[in-house]
Amino acid sequence: MIAGGWSHGGEPSASQMPTSLLLLLLPLLLLLLPRASIVAAVATEFLYPNFTVSYFNFSESGGVFLNSPAAVFSLTIADPTRQNASFYLSVLHSATGSVVWSANRNASIPSDGVVALSSHGLSIALPDSTVVWTTRALPLAVSALRLLDSGNLLLIDAANATLWQSFDHPTDTLVSGQNLPVGSPLTASVSSTNFTEGDYAFVVTPGDALMTWKGSQRYWSLSTDVRSFKESNAEVVSMATNATGLYLFSLGGEVVFEIFLPRSDFRILKLNHTGEFQVASYAAPNSSTITGNEFEAPSSNCDLPRSCPSLAICNEGINSSTCSCPTNFQAFNSGVCMPADGSRLPSSASCGDLSAISYITLESGIEYFANTFASPTTSGGNVSSCQSLCTGSCSCLGFFYRNTSLACFLLQHQLGSFFESNAVGTSTTIGYIKTLVSRSSTPDHSNDRAKKTHLIAILLPAGASFLLVLGSVSTWIIWRKRGGATQGSKGMKTRATTAAALGGGEGDDSQDDIEILIPRLPTRFTYAELEEATGHFGTKIGSGGFGVVYKGQLQDRTEVAVKRLENVGLHGRKEFCTEIAIIGNIRHVNLVRLRGFCAQGSRRLLVYEYMNRGSLDCLLFGPGPALEWQERVEIAVSAARGLAYLHGGCEHKIIHCDVKPENILLHDGGHVKISDFGLAKLLAPEQSGLFTTMRGTRGYLAPEWLTNSAVTDRADVYSFGIVLLEIVRGRKNLSRGNEEEQQQEGSWSGESSAGEEEYFPLTALEGHQEERYLELADPRLEGRVREEEVARVVKVALCCLHEEPRLRPSMPAVVGMLEGNVEVGKPRVDSLNFLRLYGQGPTDPSPPVTRGGIRLATPADGNRTASDVDSVTYTAAESIPGPSS
Ligand SMILES: *[C@@H]1O[C@H](CO)[C@@H](O)[C@H](O)[C@H]1NC(C)=O
Ligand SMILES: *[C@@H]1O[C@H](CO)[C@@H](O)[C@H](O)[C@H]1NC(C)=O
Ligand SMILES: *[C@@H]1O[C@H](CO)[C@@H](O)[C@H](O)[C@H]1NC(C)=O
Ligand SMILES: *[C@@H]1O[C@H](CO)[C@@H](O)[C@H](O)[C@H]1NC(C)=O
Ligand SMILES: *[C@@H]1O[C@H](CO)[C@@H](O)[C@H](O)[C@H]1NC(C)=O
Repeated sequence: MIAGGWSHGGEPSASQMPTSLLLLLLPLLLLLLPRASIVAAVATEFLYPNFTVSYFNFSESGGVFLNSPAAVFSLTIADPTRQNASFYLSVLHSATGSVVWSANRNASIPSDGVVALSSHGLSIALPDSTVVWTTRALPLAVSALRLLDSGNLLLIDAANATLWQSFDHPTDTLVSGQNLPVGSPLTASVSSTNFTEGDYAFVVTPGDALMTWKGSQRYWSLSTDVRSFKESNAEVVSMATNATGLYLFSLGGEVVFEIFLPRSDFRILKLNHTGEFQVASYAAPNSSTITGNEFEAPSSNCDLPRSCPSLAICNEGINSSTCSCPTNFQAFNSGVCMPADGSRLPSSASCGDLSAISYITLESGIEYFANTFASPTTSGGNVSSCQSLCTGSCSCLGFFYRNTSLACFLLQHQLGSFFESNAVGTSTTIGYIKTLVSRSSTPDHSNDRAKKTHLIAILLPAGASFLLVLGSVSTWIIWRKRGGATQGSKGMKTRATTAAALGGGEGDDSQDDIEILIPRLPTRFTYAELEEATGHFGTKIGSGGFGVVYKGQLQDRTEVAVKRLENVGLHGRKEFCTEIAIIGNIRHVNLVRLRGFCAQGSRRLLVYEYMNRGSLDCLLFGPGPALEWQERVEIAVSAARGLAYLHGGCEHKIIHCDVKPENILLHDGGHVKISDFGLAKLLAPEQSGLFTTMRGTRGYLAPEWLTNSAVTDRADVYSFGIVLLEIVRGRKNLSRGNEEEQQQEGSWSGESSAGEEEYFPLTALEGHQEERYLELADPRLEGRVREEEVARVVKVALCCLHEEPRLRPSMPAVVGMLEGNVEVGKPRVDSLNFLRLYGQGPTDPSPPVTRGGIRLATPADGNRTASDVDSVTYTAAESIPGPSS
């Protein structure tokens, strides 16, 4: 058995052999290797010092030489290209073959490179013994190398203490159970087969998790991702994933941010070589069965720095994105965009002749990914001061100027691709790309007319070659649209206003089908279909902070409620659809079902199942017959169940943020359903660093909305507590002693008759303290309720109102208490005394609510209903610090 001798410990002699002989024997060697490797058995869990290994010893097992106890992970020497050229020592997820860690990612070894385990640690060397990687100096002697089923590779000492572990040196991947601490980034590989560190990084910071390109340009942050929830203001120390989601944790283990993921026992999180962060979830650690949807960030391809070559515009397509050059640029064969006027782009190394510097203006609506995350280089200046700044800086390759905030963003060192802003018609940010005009070919700048013809002459053939390269019909259509825009707009530097024409419905259509990419999206309707279904929006059945609701009938004769959203701001269509996919897939008997939607141009409509008894506020506060007590309790329990489901029962945790009687709908047969859930996330595109947004309706807002603390699902519990009291009393939480008077005046002025208003939560607290519960029930019940029943519901409600969110029960606990399965907690008066301040009432009926000095936009702003205005008055921030009476 020549082969056995060759393979087993044959490397040292092989390297000493004359090269000619080696070459001669190589084919034979390769032929015989599979049989040869049978000799070396794959170890389990432990390997002990004075062990050396080369790929040749384990080629039979594909380089695997150590398995974890249940073989979930393995340690391998392998060449990802399978060309037998560049080998890495890696930890492999056995079921999927994914590399989750590699030691020598920046220094691959040839097939006869050697991995050695000694009492000093682990090292990797070239055949000539040059060490390319080691675990560095360790404090104690190594007694074993150990591979765990978690994927962690350890060096342990004689006392089994860990001397070194691969989890402390993450590469581009994080697995379930592994912590990614602040300041220890994941760095993407150059390519899927070359593990060398590339330009993309994923880093956890004390306040967020970010993705960066080339060390400085940010292209994603977790806090601004629509899928994340902020849970606390504590400082972040690490990130980790478990069966239910992805979390940023504080030092005390508190969740600061969370992203809910489909339940899964094992995940692999990877920053891949294109800069995308992907979460793959598996049914079990030893399984390759993918569970649920994968999570990807950024959620749009076009948000990646190099979705296209430098300077090209990324266009979101049906199955993939396409690239095209901005007006005044032309594509060269590799898709690189160069100035069409023959000028050169500067390299940041050469400063060049200042007098040769010129700028090409980009169309309005073209945005650069990093501007979303960067703070402006300067602000307050005008466009020419921004330009001088760029001209004066050799590394500046161009700049963006935003005329609304006078912000100047310099683009330094390297340019990525552009994308088209959704706000194309209203964009106030214009980009300018620095070019160097070579004197010989400079067209006369004063002769604009000559330049124009020159431009068109160049652009058309350039577009044609671009078309040939990509050769697809869909690209052609997009190009046609761009070409049309190009010819329609005149001149080179006066492009800004003309692009506004693109902002209408027409320009939007090329993106109409991106929703197809989003899985499980509910039925999509066209605007015309909904116009017909609602009889041109003829029957208005409600209105609220999110927009007006109309009754409609679909072609199959099912009745629907169509909500025309307002205040959805500049939210992109893709983000909108992502949210819709989430909302649309939440099914619960106590939640109003979303049947479909429409996102056409700037229009956003939602189609819901129709609830024929309307909303709870009409039944409670309206002129009809009073609801009987039992019916009230049933409504409360059903609504609580719906909220409990939102908070914990579904894939994505949802904080409603706007719980109020208007959002509790009823249908014949005792059906009670919560509506408008999930919509809070569709509002307010501006996401502040501290809070995603300020949401909700005043009167039902938990006190933490007004102070500087985190908002959690307990904010919904507070709002529900207010609703419970309204159900008990049959009145809005703030009302006059005299109903007729209130209706005549329409809104509460809070002046002359301020003494007469009743803030019922305070009355309820006082009633509770004096144990006079029966007086709190709706007088219209005329005694058709027992005192202990009222006492129970009032106590539950008061517990929900505790000022300290932690002291409020969870929604499932509220359900239990209302049903009588869980003992009702004792309201804590010390955490309810703030109601006395609220009860005082303010002097100004509609003061701006401020938080941290910033005026807060609430969904109610702009189209508040009269009842919302009523309830503005006593939750205003200024009533909190006021003296107690
Ligand atoms: C170290 O761990 C191994 C296996 O888990 C065990 O057999 C051994 O007794 C341990 N040694 C010490 C010193 O704890
Ligand atoms: C995942 O971690 C979060 C935060 O620590 C925790 O609330 C949740 O219960 C965990 N999920 C599981 C299934 O352990
Ligand atoms: C995965 O592990 C479980 C127990 O941990 C075992 O029952 C199952 O057979 C394993 N599946 C595979 C494919 O190895
Ligand atoms: C998009 O993908 C689907 C399925 O993969 C395919 O049928 C369709 O032709 C693709 N469309 C385009 C425009 O490439
Ligand atoms: C900002 O620029 C846009 C586009 O050029 C223009 O329509 C708008 O009037 C400008 N606004 C201000 C405040 O100058």
